[in-house]
Amino acid sequence: MCGIVGYIGQNDAKGILLNGLARLEYRGYDSAGIALLNQDGIQMTKVKGRVAVLEEKADEGISGSLGIGHTRWATHGVPSIINAHPHQSGTGRFIIVHNGVIENYEALKREYLKDVSLISDTDTEIIVQLMEKLFERFQDTRTAFCETMKLLKGSYAIAMIDAEDRNTLYVSKNKSPLLIGIGEGFHVVASDAMATLKETNRYLEIHDEEVVLLTSDTVTIQTLTGEELERESYTVELDLSDIEKGTYSHYMLKEIDEQPFVLRRIIEEYQDENNGISIDPAIRIAMQQADRIYIIAAGTSYHAGLVGKGFIEKLAGIPVEVHIASEFNYNMPILSDSPLFIFISQSGETADSRAVLVQIKKMGFPALTITNVAGSTLSREADYTLHLHAGPEIAVASTKAYTAQLAVLVLLAVDTAETKEVTLDFDPIRELAIAANAIEVLTDQKETIENLARDYLTTTPNAFFIGRSADYYVAMEGALKLKEISYIQAEGLAGGELKHGTIALIEEGTPVIALATQVYVNYSIRGNVQEVAARGANTLIISMDGLNEENDALVLPEIHELLAPLVSVIPLQLLAYYAALHRDCDVDKPRNLAKSVTVE
Ligand code: F6R
Repeated sequence: MCGIVGYIGQNDAKGILLNGLARLEYRGYDSAGIALLNQDGIQMTKVKGRVAVLEEKADEGISGSLGIGHTRWATHGVPSIINAHPHQSGTGRFIIVHNGVIENYEALKREYLKDVSLISDTDTEIIVQLMEKLFERFQDTRTAFCETMKLLKGSYAIAMIDAEDRNTLYVSKNKSPLLIGIGEGFHVVASDAMATLKETNRYLEIHDEEVVLLTSDTVTIQTLTGEELERESYTVELDLSDIEKGTYSHYMLKEIDEQPFVLRRIIEEYQDENNGISIDPAIRIAMQQADRIYIIAAGTSYHAGLVGKGFIEKLAGIPVEVHIASEFNYNMPILSDSPLFIFISQSGETADSRAVLVQIKKMGFPALTITNVAGSTLSREADYTLHLHAGPEIAVASTKAYTAQLAVLVLLAVDTAETKEVTLDFDPIRELAIAANAIEVLTDQKETIENLARDYLTTTPNAFFIGRSADYYVAMEGALKLKEISYIQAEGLAGGELKHGTIALIEEGTPVIALATQVYVNYSIRGNVQEVAARGANTLIISMDGLNEENDALVLPEIHELLAPLVSVIPLQLLAYYAALHRDCDVDKPRNLAKSVTVE
């Protein structure tokens, strides 16, 4: 959600900003803009729509060696050029880009900006107008910037230019991600290192409620009260090939295909020299001490949590509750005496999950984050972290992060069982390796799956996914994948629930996709398929070798039943991908969605 790029140095900033914004497109946005400062003053270009359009428009000869850029995902005010960032103060002296939400913007407007006529509907404009007011009072940009930050409540990542000073870029953050990139004779600012990896792989963290002043050669970090701080830089272990599409037409397809490698990498990362599982001993103790686990997550990560509950309960014998992050704080269940909270989040930045983390930390409970992004907010603020090692996931629709989440959850469950000396007839390393091979078999069947997508999903307005037991959770994930990228209205249901209402929606030709990978419900899910087929549904069964019957559309290679959700999700990801492709949808950047959802 929203992206920031900034540059100060000797070169022209325009290309760096535009390239950086293009790399942040995956986060989701609906308008974009850049501002550059040169000897003639500020030059600004903003568009509603894609960075490619901004690029065309910015071609009109603007330049400058100090600049800021932004992709905006609308929160306050519709997507429009007026609401797009950067925003400028009344006199035009201060120019700002901002990610996050200023919770007290109405109060600030009433108290400080009664006499200012605002141009946009954004909370961001309040910040820059406030900056100008405080500059009038303090007559010093650094002081006014710090005083402005002190007044803000909510989340923000901010980069600001003072049009009277071509040598300084002002930066601050609170709860929203922002990094400083360090180069030879230049500095960059980015919401995500991916945006500026071409420029540098050395980065510096900014902590909440800090202000950073950048020149081409210096970085000054200070608290809002002016105390200067020292900080070591670190090297980002990413290379450009991790974040480029290569020969693929879409990131989503590349990421679907990467899943076997991700599983093998997870095995490598979590295997010890005796072929056992290697997990931080502190996490082991936390798991052992928990009398109940509360999994908190959203979207696809929530679906992974539902499957993970089965792993932990069946293997480690600890009761687990899975909660939607955005509901938890308003509907908190009665908690057990010794709970452990597990936050599952690909991005590690989901604001709804963070709100729960903040709340449960206040209550004094321990938290473990399972995430793909080292150094993300949920990782930093939890007591423990398990990394997914899935590599950057750039397509908005999550695929490889989901399978990685399941893999890490099963390893955690088995490790906990072992520390509790439970004897298991299940070798997770072996079974994950078998699952990786099975995924490879499926990703080689793209043509078959594309044909199914064409036959079942090209013109339909809706679709249903059904399953029982663990297949039900995968059905929910399949429905989410399909709706988010193809815009087909889709629902994932427990097979047994159909007849309690939803079957009323089944008409001649309605697609119903059923999963049949669980032995003890095989008979009953097939019964549910019969019920909808009798009412005209266009049914498609995905089963597993050993449980298959004649006319099943796709038969998955046999794998351990517990791990079936890692494999049965693959055809559903591919069905969604091809359905979106055939319906001419923007697969990697679906409308209205953002990759990391940093507002509640
Ligand atoms: C769906 C998808 C979302 C995310 C959700 C949580 O494909 O990507 O549903 O799973 O927004 O995001 P994270 O996992 O980053 O907390």
